[in-house]
Amino acid sequence: MPSRTDHWWRSAVIYQIYPRSFADGNGDGMGDLPGITARLPHLRDLGVDAVWLSPFYPSPQHDAGYDVADYRAVDPLFGDLGDADKMIAEAHALALKVIVDLVPNHTSHEHAWFRAALAAEPGSAERERYIFRDGRGPDGGEPPNGWQSVFGGSAWERVADGQWYLHLFDVSQPDLNWGCPAVRAEFVAILRFWLDRGVDGFRIDVAHGLIKEETLADWEYAGEILGGLPPEGAPPPPMWDQDGVHEVYQQWRAILDEYEGERILVAEAWVQPADRLARYVRPDEMHQAFNFEYLTAPWSADPLRKVIDSTMAANGAVGAPTTWVLSNHDVVRHATRLGYPDSENRRHGIGIGDPQPDVGLGLRRARAATLLMLALPGSAYLYQGEELGLPEATEIPDEYRQDPAWERSGHTERGRDGCRVPIPWEADAPSYGFGPSDASWLPQPAVWSEYALDRQRDVAGSTYELYRSALRLRARHGLGTAALTWLDTPADVLAFRTGDLLVLTNLGDPAAELPLHARVVLASEPLTEDGRVPQDVTIWARV
Ligand code: NOJ
Repeated sequence: MPSRTDHWWRSAVIYQIYPRSFADGNGDGMGDLPGITARLPHLRDLGVDAVWLSPFYPSPQHDAGYDVADYRAVDPLFGDLGDADKMIAEAHALALKVIVDLVPNHTSHEHAWFRAALAAEPGSAERERYIFRDGRGPDGGEPPNGWQSVFGGSAWERVADGQWYLHLFDVSQPDLNWGCPAVRAEFVAILRFWLDRGVDGFRIDVAHGLIKEETLADWEYAGEILGGLPPEGAPPPPMWDQDGVHEVYQQWRAILDEYEGERILVAEAWVQPADRLARYVRPDEMHQAFNFEYLTAPWSADPLRKVIDSTMAANGAVGAPTTWVLSNHDVVRHATRLGYPDSENRRHGIGIGDPQPDVGLGLRRARAATLLMLALPGSAYLYQGEELGLPEATEIPDEYRQDPAWERSGHTERGRDGCRVPIPWEADAPSYGFGPSDASWLPQPAVWSEYALDRQRDVAGSTYELYRSALRLRARHGLGTAALTWLDTPADVLAFRTGDLLVLTNLGDPAAELPLHARVVLASEPLTEDGRVPQDVTIWARV
């Protein structure tokens, strides 16, 4: 059995830090790198193997930093390069790996390249780095095609001289032209810049978007990527998952392999079915891809078993580990998603006036879902605050909303602010210990005090202690590296052997029996008095 440092990424538990909302060192209401560094011991105590940080590069912050103006620096909001070096060094001293976010599909409109493109003529080398086209119609007044932005509205914006540029996301995020050699060379240099600073890997934003179908063939459907599939019968989208992307990642992999240690590439690619996604993790490409099919699966035994099997089979076929994820900065937190009877994803966000979740049910199921996830073979991703059982902030007043989806959708999509609210550390401190002042870039709900870390640490049965125990036992029993064997169970029960443990999740009403002699080592909720597993509970047991 591989040890935890041998191919560490195959079974690593990776904790996503959203820098704006993790810890604020200077009290300006925005999280920052010194804040993160000071709180890293928390992650060591929790027992994760690595951190992935969402972008902290200079940015006008129109898409919370996924609009990068300079890939080799740190936004003053978050600190400076010296702070990044200190954060990396401190993480390594605590035996935590560091993965940074790389955004190659688009830059910010404030990037020097885009400014130069605007100042230059149509047809110039400067424009060639982006996707500029003439418009349709007699005076070119119609966009070059009907592509829609993921955040709503047309994916094209017209500039002063009449040309249009493509932006699959916000208007402030012009798409790069990956057919242009200068773009490829620049990203190789950026990879080396961060590898030389010691990072252990990169999470690749919109990894399925870099190459567009050559003719920019029209496609009339809404530009859903986040959990949305094209409508049935629609042709394959010409902007996603084009075969040409793989050449880019093969080149990057060769570069990472030159470096000491195992540095990794992780694909954020909303690609289905699983065997299409597995192409991103072939042996000469990336190491991992987020398993969004798992994230979006309903809370129901049969679909869960199917997605576990199909994604493990697809990854296994190319020799890659499967990853598991339930929450991130783009989706409604799982403690809230699962608090709706239908466990629907509500990918357009939740606001005041929308149906509100059953918080108790959501947390109960979230704890069960997490224990199930952390027992599966492969690597698991946690999103900051889920170890506290944090729900989505579902009642943010609309005037505070910052997600560009809210404006671009004409106020029809609330967007993703609800999962991005600064997290609570201390129940009775200003900003719940997020920072030294009471400032917080998104308002924190009063209920945050109940979830604060200091209310949960050393409290038996708290969600924080459940995560901590799960991670300790996962390491001790080699979960993540062990194979999985399903056991025969009633329809609403999932049960498997992995390593020397039995894992059982009961999604149905009658309490589930455990085998005689099963000794429960961890349970997401108490068992019944006669030792059966109630609905929406996961247990790990020795048998
Ligand atoms: C995916 C990121 O996770 C999301 O937050 C961002 O808005 C888009 N990519 C565009 O970069």
